[in-house]
Amino acid sequence: MTNKTTSEGLDQALAPCLDRLITPALVIDLDAVQANLAATLRRVGGPQRWRPHLKTSKQAVIIELMLDAGLRSFKVATCDELALLLRTAGPRAVDVLFAYPAQRASLSAVLALARAHAGSRVQVLADSPAHLDALAGWSRALGRDAPLPVMLDVDLGMHRTGTSPARWRELAAMPDPLELAGLHGYDGHLTWAQRDEAHQGYDALIELAAALRAGPAAPEHGALELVTSGTHSYAHALDHPGLGAGLGAGDWRHSVSPGTIVLSDRRSHQAARDIGLRQAAFVATRVISAGPERVTLDAGSKAIAPDVSPPSSAVLDRPELEPQRASEEHLPCRVATNAHSPELGRLLWLVPEHVCTTVNLYREAVWIRGGRYVGVGPVGASGHACGLSDDALVKPPREG
Ligand SMILES: Cc1ncc(COP(=O)(O)O)c(C=O)c1O
Repeated sequence: MTNKTTSEGLDQALAPCLDRLITPALVIDLDAVQANLAATLRRVGGPQRWRPHLKTSKQAVIIELMLDAGLRSFKVATCDELALLLRTAGPRAVDVLFAYPAQRASLSAVLALARAHAGSRVQVLADSPAHLDALAGWSRALGRDAPLPVMLDVDLGMHRTGTSPARWRELAAMPDPLELAGLHGYDGHLTWAQRDEAHQGYDALIELAAALRAGPAAPEHGALELVTSGTHSYAHALDHPGLGAGLGAGDWRHSVSPGTIVLSDRRSHQAARDIGLRQAAFVATRVISAGPERVTLDAGSKAIAPDVSPPSSAVLDRPELEPQRASEEHLPCRVATNAHSPELGRLLWLVPEHVCTTVNLYREAVWIRGGRYVGVGPVGASGHACGLSDDALVKPPREG
């Protein structure tokens, strides 16, 4: 297969299973995943500077490729992603940040997983001083006596979670059994064009790290970690003069946390240009209806990028087909005037606008390697589990 995946290449790769393949289907090109991991590692300068977010890929097969590439630090947003990582890593020790404000029930699950995988390091995120106190109280109540590493979530202007640098500066001490491990400043509100704004945020993060390092909340041992930036701002972090340097004698170290970069999507075109990303995730779809200047595909909002305004995707190698507003299982496409309309049943390939929310819709993914279909496997952490599966045999109460 050439570096650029073509619809013809994908047709050929899946030819052996096309008669059985029910669409829509998520298709992952594992060679492209590997190429993206290598390109990102080259760009960031090695595994110690990248803490990939697993919310994008959610699959053991991809975690295995990450471990093979030398990555050992990860970010997750859900208990399912955490469990999948620790299960897949097995005896290989990993360091994982539960990068979501845990509540009592999720913290309980996180601590149980940490206990069951004692060789790995599990860190949690504190949203605010009040949440820090809550985390400490829940941890004590849940019997945690070993220090629990915590990163402070610093709001650098996204105004989604976290607390301002000025308020975190007032932190007097870390409540027992919590231990300050680092600062988390995710700047997902910024774009590739907003380098100056990103750098102002990183300056604030570094100043906060220096203040905390000199204060009573500082850990006795070890450097603080500063975690920033996803796919749309990692380049700003990498060329920030302070973030690469550290505060003198190893007081802190920095890592970026892009996740989308592993699979790529239409939104990540700047990153794709920056490091030569390959598109690794596609949705296989078929024409299910054809009308005048219109075809409809079987990949609606329950199959691809439900969170974006139209278009949710582009049809690979078919620019004459323009996806319109999707309904749940239908994606109408306008056919450009005088263009050839694909026939009923024709297989087409969609490139998602947003790959993370696309992957999350699938229970399984079809794998391609070396330009050939090699099998299918679970998207082990898609969707949400409620943590009560052990109660599954409890009988529902009778009605009436
Ligand atoms: C806290 C956090 N970190 C990292 C990322 C990774 O960003 P991206 O998927 O753009 O690489 C996200 C994305 O939503 C995020 O919410």
